[in-house]
Amino acid sequence: MNIIEIISKKRDNKKLSKEEIEYFINGYTKGEITDYQAAAMVMAIYINGMDYEEIKDLTIAMANSGETLDLSDISKTIIDKHSSGGVGDKITLIVMPIIASFGIPVAKMSGRGLGITGGTIDKLESIPGYRTDISLEEFKNNIKEIGISLIGQTKDLAPADKKIYALRDTIACTDSIPLIASSIMSKKIAAGANKLVLEVTCGNGAFMKSQEEAEELSTLMKKIGELAGIETICVVTNMDQPIGKAVGNSLEIEEAAHALKGKMEEDVKQVVLTIASYIIKLAGQGDNLEENKEKILEKIQSGAAYEKFTQLVEKQYGEVEYLSNIQKAKYIVPVKAETEGYVEELQAEEIGKASLMLGAGRQKKEDEIDHTSGIILEKKIGDKVEKGEVLAYIHSNKEDIEETKQKILNAYMIDLEKPEEYKHILNII
Ligand code: URA
Repeated sequence: MNIIEIISKKRDNKKLSKEEIEYFINGYTKGEITDYQAAAMVMAIYINGMDYEEIKDLTIAMANSGETLDLSDISKTIIDKHSSGGVGDKITLIVMPIIASFGIPVAKMSGRGLGITGGTIDKLESIPGYRTDISLEEFKNNIKEIGISLIGQTKDLAPADKKIYALRDTIACTDSIPLIASSIMSKKIAAGANKLVLEVTCGNGAFMKSQEEAEELSTLMKKIGELAGIETICVVTNMDQPIGKAVGNSLEIEEAAHALKGKMEEDVKQVVLTIASYIIKLAGQGDNLEENKEKILEKIQSGAAYEKFTQLVEKQYGEVEYLSNIQKAKYIVPVKAETEGYVEELQAEEIGKASLMLGAGRQKKEDEIDHTSGIILEKKIGDKVEKGEVLAYIHSNKEDIEETKQKILNAYMIDLEKPEEYKHILNII
């Protein structure tokens, strides 16, 4: 077998065998296949797609590219959650401590930002000292001791995904169903959980632009999950506008900390309550979703959920004090409305691009993140706006932000008529 033949087969839209897929994944993981060959292969998959069997084989090969964790000695039920990516998506940071506060073990391996979407690992790393690269042994110990651990992709778990994920980001291959499904599910299989809730985002700020595509991705991941013995539920969420107020790493940590203390934006609240109530059901702690939501609110009101978050931060060497006193960027500049009316649209994609311009995400694989930069959205879809009122604040360490300001203004569409109510949850699969 050789990689050039395999690339040309996919380039010509032919089906790859299990052996060919394994050859590509193993060769790329070991560094025997180069970045440029892998880029050609990934682009061929992006353009020509894969059928279910190929996607399943790709996922399993990626999951087996490194160690796979066995967490069965910790508990019969290990919970994981993952988002297919969005702008301002800090749901994981809020849901996971809530779940751990129920005594349900949480083992979560997250990713970095991809394209315009932020990544939980970049957000956590904005907390001084927080280590996302602890050993797998420490990861397991933390779950045993405090019931939660949140780490980045280690070089040991699904290393093929780590390499392909970073590569995709730099060759415009992020929004592909086979590539997303295999990326997410390989990590989930390797990380050892057996119950999974996936937040599948859809809309202009997500990789899946339409609800149909998001549902197709959901059905596929659910099928792969079940094949691997992971009970999976997909919550399809609306990502036409960013979720919550903050976009940017430290700013989202601050919003997550506030949410865990009970100060939650309405959209964040709906998504958090839906996802967390399904996780509690999957964990066998309550079939009634409405009752689960009540119990979640109690965990927040009692301070138990926030306490779990601080335990997590402390255990992974982060400065807990930072959560209530985040470092701010050098310049905080308002963006003001030029007309009055109602916010009809707030395009998540444009806001994501604006946050990239500020340095909150990476344009190139080796770029350093500017953790304190980002955007605070003061007005969201449906809000009434007066001319001259603040729509958003830019948090920047660069002085010249004219272009970013314009991008944010372009993201807002203001109309005299009040728009239809914006739906946050679109489907459960
Ligand atoms: N999250 C992942 O882990 N992988 C993707 O491809 C997209 C979102």
